[in-house]
Amino acid sequence: MSQALKDKIIQSLIDQKEIFGDDLFEESILNSRRTEIIAAPADEDSLFKENWELAENLGDLNKLICECQKCALGETRNKFVFGSGNPEADVMCIGEGPGADEDAQGLPFVGRAGKLLTDILKAINFSREEVYIANVIKCRPPGNRTPLPSEMETCMPYLKKQIELIKPKAILCLGLTAAQGLLKRKDSLTNMRGKIFDFGDVKVMVTYHPAALLRNPNWKRGCWEDVQKFRKLYDELRNK
Ligand code: URA
Repeated sequence: MSQALKDKIIQSLIDQKEIFGDDLFEESILNSRRTEIIAAPADEDSLFKENWELAENLGDLNKLICECQKCALGETRNKFVFGSGNPEADVMCIGEGPGADEDAQGLPFVGRAGKLLTDILKAINFSREEVYIANVIKCRPPGNRTPLPSEMETCMPYLKKQIELIKPKAILCLGLTAAQGLLKRKDSLTNMRGKIFDFGDVKVMVTYHPAALLRNPNWKRGCWEDVQKFRKLYDELRNK
């Protein structure tokens, strides 16, 4: 057994003694509990999971992670941007990370890029309310810089847990950072656009980030083609 594991077990025993007092360690209580525990062995996995990993809904998950300080962005953010939309959505849109407007409001895609995202969704007959919108990282990088690989790696488990709870049929990645982060691919956006990827049993497609479209309006046609394909994929999945 590793020292780290021993330390975790010892800390957990100290915590339990604090909560339950000495009763927990009394011989007669232990003996009666032992029979039940042996009959139903503890799930070793869940024993060593962090609390948020055991969250059963998005509200609980948000409460358990919104004070996160796992990376330096926790110190500079104003608001943690968990995500918003339908918790039972069939479609998720995943962006890079909060900008200034999102950091101020605590909601994803509420600035100019967000308005364009709403229009893109409308163009393929989705309302913002019926999809779920989240980001690869939940806190704004200072000056809107691209998130560091270490920040993405630290934050990605939160997004994975959101996907696990929402169980969408299809995900649309907005931009290179979201696509590379979610799909763990070093590919270019050009190579990834138009293809269908798997994230577990969820289908994933990739298009431009709305902020990039604001800077390069001539990319809008390509985005239009991408989202038409995404809608077709979604309709096929829905009719399966
Ligand atoms: N850009 C993103 O990637 N996400 C947001 O929430 C806003 C802008």
